[in-house]
Amino acid sequence: MSTLAGKHIVLGLSGGIAVFKSAELCRALVKAGVTVQVVMTEAAEHFMTAVTLQALSGRPVYTSQWDPREANNMAHINLSREADAIVVAPASADFMAKLLHGGADELLSLMCLARPLDKVPLIVAPAMNREMWSNPATQRNVLQLKADGIHVLDVGQGDQACGETGDGRMLEAEEILEDLEAFFTPKVLAGKAVLVTAGPTYEAIDPVRGITNLSSGKMGFAIARAARMAGASVTLVAGPVHLPTPRGVQRVDVRSACQMLEAVQLHAHAAHVFIATAAVADWRPAHSADQKIKKDGSGVTPQLNFVENPDILATIAQSPRGASGELFCVGFAAESHDLLAHATAKRLRKGVPLLVGNIGPATFGQDDNALLLVDQSGARELPRASKQALAVQLIGDIAVRLTR
Ligand code: C5P
Repeated sequence: MSTLAGKHIVLGLSGGIAVFKSAELCRALVKAGVTVQVVMTEAAEHFMTAVTLQALSGRPVYTSQWDPREANNMAHINLSREADAIVVAPASADFMAKLLHGGADELLSLMCLARPLDKVPLIVAPAMNREMWSNPATQRNVLQLKADGIHVLDVGQGDQACGETGDGRMLEAEEILEDLEAFFTPKVLAGKAVLVTAGPTYEAIDPVRGITNLSSGKMGFAIARAARMAGASVTLVAGPVHLPTPRGVQRVDVRSACQMLEAVQLHAHAAHVFIATAAVADWRPAHSADQKIKKDGSGVTPQLNFVENPDILATIAQSPRGASGELFCVGFAAESHDLLAHATAKRLRKGVPLLVGNIGPATFGQDDNALLLVDQSGARELPRASKQALAVQLIGDIAVRLTR
């Protein structure tokens, strides 16, 4: 379940063509279980009618501080007191300048000014032309808004409605949703660097053929996302998978086990936690042919010899930082049966404090899973749930272990 579920958010729209994304954001927030109260400036109403946002939010939209629907005629007070957060998306250059000076000549800025600072965070998603964005006035305002405790989201980069290309687009609705979810997630891994491996490896036989496996990478990607939401800086070393990079995560793409080891060793120095979810090939062809091996019609089949791949997890766990516990190492075990016995034996063999067992065939490629957390004192089950929900639980568990 999203950390946003049950929250009440005031979604403010100032004037800009990006309001079409706000409609999508409104819909996505409602889908995530948020009650959304939309407030629009007069400028926003030039780009979209309140009717659209009323239909999407399921609540009447407020556009004026003189709204007679409020018994005390104080919409700015009433709306801001009920909110878990105010999100202004899009936040135009003008609206940000107004916020900065405490301007309050219409409902949205008035409400932002009137919000209880200690209870109602203000999050703004800027949207404007690239020249307006890079103008020193705007950049100065962004710095000051941040210094004032306002959470200013990044801007996107690319084609703009005016026909120019550059920085200043409003983030996409799903990116804002992701940042809002991160905003509300307790920062149990603040200041920690987390390194995750995910997906299969691919061991080349020749330039067009190779050996791989059915790992989808979903569990590792979910863990990387959960760690980032929990405040960690996250590096995700991924084998060949077709999954989008979780927002805010640094991704390093590799193919083979040897490349994965190299990438992991490079990033392990700075990491506090290493979580190995990758399904690394146990063996690779002893020789990878430079050219495609041709079928010549003679009926003679190529003979493949294999060499064992390095064990990435064991190498890192048994390195000085891993062995001392300075780098907390977590392994995964995909088994088909006797999960507890195999996971317990694997934990000792790899030399890791925590090993997470799952039943491989029941989870490969699926969106859900069940986990068995095995440490020196025993085992704890995390019952079947979505991989994302399990990732959040696992990250919470690891965070507690780091404080012991
Ligand atoms: O030995 P097995 O492959 O079952 O071990 C699984 C655990 O070890 C996983 O955490 C996996 O990411 C890691 N591993 C590794 N390098 C290997 C083999 C497995 O890091 N060569």
